[in-house]
Amino acid sequence: MNVLVLGSGGREHAIAWKIKQSEKCEKLFCMPGNPGTALIATNLAGGVNDFDAIKGAVLDNAIDIVVVGPEDPLVNGLRDKFAADSQLANVLFVGPSQRGAMLEGSKDFAKEFMSRHGIPTASYRSFTSTDIDQADKFLESLQAPYVLKADGLAAGKGVLIPETLEEAKASLREMLGGMFGAAGNTVVIEEFLRGIEVSVFVLTDGKDYLILPEAKDYKRIGVGDKGLNTGGMGAVSPVGFADAQFMEKVEERIIKPTVNGLAADGIDYKGFIFIGLMNCNGDPYVIEYNVRMGDPETEAVMTRIDSDLLSHLEAVAKGELSGEKIVISEEGALTVVCVSGGYPQSYGKGYEIFGSEYLERSSVEDKIKIFHAGTSMKEGKLVTSGGRVLAVTVNGKGIEKSREVVYPEIDKIMYTNKYYRSDIGLDLLKYEK
Ligand code: AMP
Ligand code: GLY
Repeated sequence: MNVLVLGSGGREHAIAWKIKQSEKCEKLFCMPGNPGTALIATNLAGGVNDFDAIKGAVLDNAIDIVVVGPEDPLVNGLRDKFAADSQLANVLFVGPSQRGAMLEGSKDFAKEFMSRHGIPTASYRSFTSTDIDQADKFLESLQAPYVLKADGLAAGKGVLIPETLEEAKASLREMLGGMFGAAGNTVVIEEFLRGIEVSVFVLTDGKDYLILPEAKDYKRIGVGDKGLNTGGMGAVSPVGFADAQFMEKVEERIIKPTVNGLAADGIDYKGFIFIGLMNCNGDPYVIEYNVRMGDPETEAVMTRIDSDLLSHLEAVAKGELSGEKIVISEEGALTVVCVSGGYPQSYGKGYEIFGSEYLERSSVEDKIKIFHAGTSMKEGKLVTSGGRVLAVTVNGKGIEKSREVVYPEIDKIMYTNKYYRSDIGLDLLKYEK
């Protein structure tokens, strides 16, 4: 099969890397890709929302299957555009319809979906600027801290967790007043859940599903989970506290009702579902749905799948997932993201990255994989071009050992203002058997 992966981050590099290992993979393309994907695939010019460029690439390269990395094109209806186009309707496509993508595109839609299908989540109510008084009353009925979410996509920044009622009321007014643009026209206010988070990943064809390895993400910029929220500074899989008993609850209480709920609602969903969960005293609650894989969780998760991902993706797109079995490695994965100093606020770009002999290490045999996120080529040199620059993954048994291997590898990569978190995995040591 000829495969097109849409996207340009570490997540897409990791997905492409895994697809490349499949015997079914003939030609592999990424749009737009990055210098990391260029090592294993052909990068094509074009953006993930550029339907004309995507269509041209699919037809020119006889693409059999399209795999969408980020949520944006899905929320914008890329799958529906394929379905409506006679030249593209038969191309296999991994990613939900526009309605399915509302699970991520609208928090209010996701909350209604969960309450309709009895899926455990924080209790909530949604408000617009016409019902500020009621919103204030609802806030007064909750315990601190308060969770306020802009309904729409806000580049991962649309959640505020004020500590006091006063701050919460002020934040509510700022959100409804346009702090996140139109995404905040509706604000979801919900109960604060206490617990520890884990990311669960599902591949579904709308009827059956495969559960991918779970992972823990490290969201804050600073050691000890301090400081500003980022896209993710590291990931670990498996997650010790997500043991068999917990994962059984996740499957019964969340995954099955989610997949069945989509079918019952008549929503065409063939793709990934990323369920952000809170483990509250051993019981799972959904924090959010995403209609894509997580980043950097994917850079850990893909390295633990021993079965043929492309075969799974083909089955998803054809609606024939019932025969597929996923095989997950006993070995764990630990990923550390190297970022540009200053991220997630302003940072410099265009710094040359040295250590290139290591930068191509992503063969299957290598225990170290380096996935490119924010890199580009400038005058023949590899340079930094984003906040998150590279994701370094090590596979092995045990977090302690993996940490001993990954950090010396990171030392070999050099660029101006390199920063990374030195504590990835430490909080999970106590859960290891
Ligand atoms: P979201 O964009 O919905 O993933 O929210 C961003 C982050 O806010 C999550 O990863 C959680 O750490 C936190 N968060 C969201 N909702 C809640 C909640 N109901 N209780 C506690 N923390 C939450
Ligand atoms: N790492 C969290 C996310 O991709 O949303």
